[in-house]
Amino acid sequence: MRSNTVDVRPRGSAVDVRPLGSAVGAEISGLDLAEPLAPPALATVKGALAGHGVVFFRDQTLTEKQHIALARQFGAINVNRFFSHADGYPEIALVVKEPHQTRNIGGGWHTDHSYDAVPALGSMLYAREIPPRGGDTLFASMYAAYDALSDGLKRTLEGLRGVHSSRHVFGVKRDDLEGRIGNYEAATQDAIHPVVIIHPDSGKKALYVNPGFTIGFDGWTADESKPLLDYLYRHAARPEFTYRFEWQEGSLAFWDNRSTWHYALNDYQGERRLLHRITIEGCALG
Ligand code: SIN
Repeated sequence: MRSNTVDVRPRGSAVDVRPLGSAVGAEISGLDLAEPLAPPALATVKGALAGHGVVFFRDQTLTEKQHIALARQFGAINVNRFFSHADGYPEIALVVKEPHQTRNIGGGWHTDHSYDAVPALGSMLYAREIPPRGGDTLFASMYAAYDALSDGLKRTLEGLRGVHSSRHVFGVKRDDLEGRIGNYEAATQDAIHPVVIIHPDSGKKALYVNPGFTIGFDGWTADESKPLLDYLYRHAARPEFTYRFEWQEGSLAFWDNRSTWHYALNDYQGERRLLHRITIEGCALG
């Protein structure tokens, strides 16, 4: 396994970035996220995020305030308008499923916030309670998905823009998500983004459509859009572009919404799963 060890901690212990999947994901060790990150450590995390799409940390102990302080080192916090939040902390969205609930949050491939005119950079999801088995999260690399397309399809896609919407997901009152998702009337966001984006930090091209929120191509009908979107969704979810992360309490995943999709598996019926999510604002995509 490739490994980059960089000595960036003030106390001299090594920060290690270890790639996990062949296309997406790296584990970073040697950092205590409860403490402010020194500038070299911050740069290492940002570089790993831009390159690997999602970075994972293990065995972290974070209060809500420390989680918020950590996120602020990467940008302004997006206060989620649909999710319930941790008591006293509107910045922290609850990703929770109680033992009696059957539907989970995020149980399909998606990219958070692509329906916003300025989509979020990414999210930090911190595991507080994890079922004894199940509840893993899949991540997929949209760099790898783009790179593997033919030159002909790349050229076609580079001329297209995708239409993204929150209305069909958050604008519909759903009894199975009652108490966890609300504020349905706020789901008015539609946004148009290039189908192929240049990632603002890595400079790499990424495919930017997702099954959760992309509803068509700008100027095309839904019927015209569907076959090509379906092809891209099948292509981008190919196992070789993905990594499956197994949570433990104290794990934190920080993913980049511009270069990855994610999918929360719902295979732990009758068990509780509770994670705290903070989403960080991004920039316009081009
Ligand atoms: C999400 O889609 O933000 C939730 C992911 C997860 O629960 O693993």
